[in-house]
Amino acid sequence: MNVPFLSLKDVTALHGAEINEAVSRVVNSGWYLQGEENARFERNYANYIGTKHCIGCANGLDALIWIWRAYIELGVMQPGDEVILPANTYIATHLGITENGLIPVCVEPKEETLEIDEDKIEEILVKREEQRVKNGIENRIKAICIVHLYGRCAYTDKIGELCKKYDLKLVEDNAQAHGCVAQVRGKNGEVRTVRTGAIGDAAGHSFYPGKNLGALGDGGAVTTNDDELAACIRALANYGSQKKYVFQYTGRNSRLDEIQAAVLDVKLKYLDQDNKYRQQVATYYYDHISNPLITLPKRLDDANNVYHLFPILVKSEISHQSSVISNRDRLHDYLAENGVGTVIHYPIPPHMQECYANASWNHSSLQGGVGGRLSLPITERIHNSELSLPIGPTITMDEVAYVVKLINEFK
Ligand SMILES: Cc1ncc(COP(=O)(O)O)c(C=O)c1O
Repeated sequence: MNVPFLSLKDVTALHGAEINEAVSRVVNSGWYLQGEENARFERNYANYIGTKHCIGCANGLDALIWIWRAYIELGVMQPGDEVILPANTYIATHLGITENGLIPVCVEPKEETLEIDEDKIEEILVKREEQRVKNGIENRIKAICIVHLYGRCAYTDKIGELCKKYDLKLVEDNAQAHGCVAQVRGKNGEVRTVRTGAIGDAAGHSFYPGKNLGALGDGGAVTTNDDELAACIRALANYGSQKKYVFQYTGRNSRLDEIQAAVLDVKLKYLDQDNKYRQQVATYYYDHISNPLITLPKRLDDANNVYHLFPILVKSEISHQSSVISNRDRLHDYLAENGVGTVIHYPIPPHMQECYANASWNHSSLQGGVGGRLSLPITERIHNSELSLPIGPTITMDEVAYVVKLINEFK
């Protein structure tokens, strides 16, 4: 049996007639940018997420870049300010920050959830506060960026409370979690169900084709309830212009085109249904995978996980010659030999990437990592043992059962 990691052709075919109709409509309209399709999708997506504004842009990385840049333009932050973010993420989360001259403060994940560890965030904030009070060192941490990685909700009430206590912006990287929800506790103890992307002050979304809500090319968006921030981002993504031929900022051309907006608007209608199917696949994986070499991340309530990916962790072993045997790599090859596609998310963590080898934030005499870099052992362990299994709206339950059978037979 052949089980691709994700067949984008099949995903598109699932709603093929409507998608083709939407594309033809735009092709034949003669209007390809900043038109009705964008306006409609932005309205519908803002409505779906539960925010006042949605601003379409070129891709998910730009969405993050624009959020940080807008905070700088509005005087809320300055280059050199710091942002707490998860060490375990796709590098785009870091790039959005460093592109703007802001400094990442990498925080390890909780081993069982793989998401940013709220207690470690608190430790850093408490330490900074002590340094400020005792030694007069300015605390330049201005924001926490959480990433709902793999489709798992990363928000906790403690993170919300820390943002309030230390007057920090909360930015969500929702590139992997369209449709996910969080239970958010309010001031009086009441609990509200809020979609990821509407929890914090602003959120970046990616519509890269393989995402739960994917375009037929690149696409992204920012959602926020902040009028000023929204207006600034809309201008930044349109050369810095709020009025034709008048430029308030040095922006870029970073717009969502009409074809992508039309396609996304079709797929948005089916997002919940597609996510439900992903949850059904995940349930089968959780209930049937049984192999002592494999650990599954803590199972969340279905509402809190839209299973963009299904990560498993595969234990490595030490051979008789004292070298490390990567069972993850062996499993990847064994599944490939049996026709099953898997992908590692991600093989090298951002702080170990060449582009950040000389970054000031990545060097700490106290931390003693490889080559003087930060040492982030939990993140590094995850990147050495993670493997993502096939999951998506088009994989069949027979295929899922085949993948599980192979995994359970793996030695
Ligand atoms: C966590 C995360 N953030 C940001 C991005 C960037 O999105 P894009 O590929 O649309 O630029 C991605 C995606 O690929 C991602 O996975």
